[in-house]
Amino acid sequence: MYKTSIFYTLLLFSGFRSYAQEPVQNIASRTNLSLNGKWNYMIDPYESGYYDYRRVPFDQSKTQEGGFYDNKQQTDKSELLEYDFDHSPTLNVPGDWNSQVEKLSLYEGSVWYKKSFTITPKKDKQYLLYFAAVSYEAHVYLNGKKLGIHQGGFTPFQFDVTALLKEGENFVVLKVDNTRKKEAIPTIATDWWNYGGITRDVYLTELPKTFIRDYKVQLAKGNAAQIEGYVQLKGDNKKQKVMLKIPEAGIVLAVNTDTAGFAAFTIPAKKISYWSPENPKLYTVQISSATDAVTDKIGFRTIETRGKDILLNGKSVFLRGISMHDENPLIPGRPRGTGDLKMLLSWAKELNCNFVRLAHYPHNEEMVRLADEMGLLVWAEIPVYWTIDWENADTYRNAEHQLTDLISRDKNRAGVIIWSVGNETPLSDPRLKFMSNLASKARKLDDTRLISAALELHREGNNVIVDDVLSEKLDLVSFNEYAGWYWGGTPKEITKYSFKVKYQKPVIITEFGGDALAGFHADEDTRWSEEYQEALYKNQFKIQESIDGLRGMTPWILVDFKSPRRTHPIYQNFWNRKGLISDTGKKKKAFFTLKTRYDQLEKQYAHPVQPKK
Ligand code: GCU
Repeated sequence: MYKTSIFYTLLLFSGFRSYAQEPVQNIASRTNLSLNGKWNYMIDPYESGYYDYRRVPFDQSKTQEGGFYDNKQQTDKSELLEYDFDHSPTLNVPGDWNSQVEKLSLYEGSVWYKKSFTITPKKDKQYLLYFAAVSYEAHVYLNGKKLGIHQGGFTPFQFDVTALLKEGENFVVLKVDNTRKKEAIPTIATDWWNYGGITRDVYLTELPKTFIRDYKVQLAKGNAAQIEGYVQLKGDNKKQKVMLKIPEAGIVLAVNTDTAGFAAFTIPAKKISYWSPENPKLYTVQISSATDAVTDKIGFRTIETRGKDILLNGKSVFLRGISMHDENPLIPGRPRGTGDLKMLLSWAKELNCNFVRLAHYPHNEEMVRLADEMGLLVWAEIPVYWTIDWENADTYRNAEHQLTDLISRDKNRAGVIIWSVGNETPLSDPRLKFMSNLASKARKLDDTRLISAALELHREGNNVIVDDVLSEKLDLVSFNEYAGWYWGGTPKEITKYSFKVKYQKPVIITEFGGDALAGFHADEDTRWSEEYQEALYKNQFKIQESIDGLRGMTPWILVDFKSPRRTHPIYQNFWNRKGLISDTGKKKKAFFTLKTRYDQLEKQYAHPVQPKK
């Protein structure tokens, strides 16, 4: 059960009453008033809408007035008002601001958003204001009243606004700040564009006074014959009879929640068609109580390791994967709808992938649900990326908070098989403590999936050594290696290398690859050419054969993506060109090299679809 987020937000907000609310499972399927669309915005680089000239926050002053969140309208011609939302331009929500307004392309700082909406609140209902993601720090106000603060650009948060909603017109105001900070998660240095804004859906959710806040319905750890889970009610009427129905599987179960509104259950799973990439079977699951009902689409599969094998539904599987960012290159910007998400996953399917690494942060919930439908296994990750402020307790709490919200949100997705607690984090004792704590937190929250992280390696002569001690806390040995690009010479020279993996666990190579400017053709020794990238992939496959526990890979990366670190004026121009597809959607030669390899591996690991028992 997930309590940290409340605790965290309250701490951040001491001295004020916070309206923060615990995560609500499958909120998109509830009764929602969408607040997507056009929001007025004002750019505020000096935060003059938040602080007075003495840098004292207006919302912490005696009157708590004076900030832009008041959304004041000039009523008297002599009145001094230095902002006016209704005469300000608009931004589309969901959407990052960088790709919508030229002067905001590289902007890092505060932007204010305002949205008005009209509603007639019902007495027997309660209302949540829900944000699927806001990058990075959001101060949220309703009708001038502060609801709370949220940090983290990739996970959902919500506030109970029942007491603050008015009959008729209401207005929401956010101060969104994407300034990078050393103590934040991610920290200052990343290799992706620091998109700012309200990047995912916004809802006003209407719920009964007592509602089904949370549930988990999955197969028990390593037991394909048993469904295990729980249901959590929230509200006054906590002790209720709750029905769980999976009609297609002939499952009907009644449970009684306790005084805390909680009930756990186990159900024999006799007639289940197990979810797999070849058979992405999703069941309609209905959960209902006297006061609420929710329906979800859930698949059932087991995932475990045995020695160096990864077993999906008890059978050895090879994870034919690709890494991807949460970016539509054709915009370029954060995906703005289902079409963008489907395009990215369809490209992965064209590669004959059965697996995707959603790097380096939680992607859109819809992306993970689409992966369930399309039959793609998922590696999900939190942005503990490169050199984090390891000894800062707030930084750890922030990381654990994002991990908790990610697992809470996606725990019912069959496709999600791996929780990753970070990427390329440099060896040190504080780092080992930080990452080990995250790994055990993930295991405590969900013991039915594999826990991992993208680790680093070192070289001794022609030996590439993987012996990061953090692997002892993880279920897989996963690492990034850039033979043929950042080290090791040209593609043909890398064949002298072989991998020495210390641990008897399945191995996933989470990154390898090199940049190629689409359409630039030369010989295979010429950097940036498609031929160089193609040869690099071919020789990578050769050296990877030295790893007998290799059970998966997610080459870097599906499609070129924006990065402020990539400044070469001819070949990069703020693009990381390691994509197998260009920023205009053109497939590079290496795309077909990888597809051929995956066709071979598919045959090698072929599994007929499981007959119904
Ligand atoms: C790193 C990192 C990626 C980065 C890639 C690259 O390994 O994990 O985020 O984009 O290498 O250098 O292209």
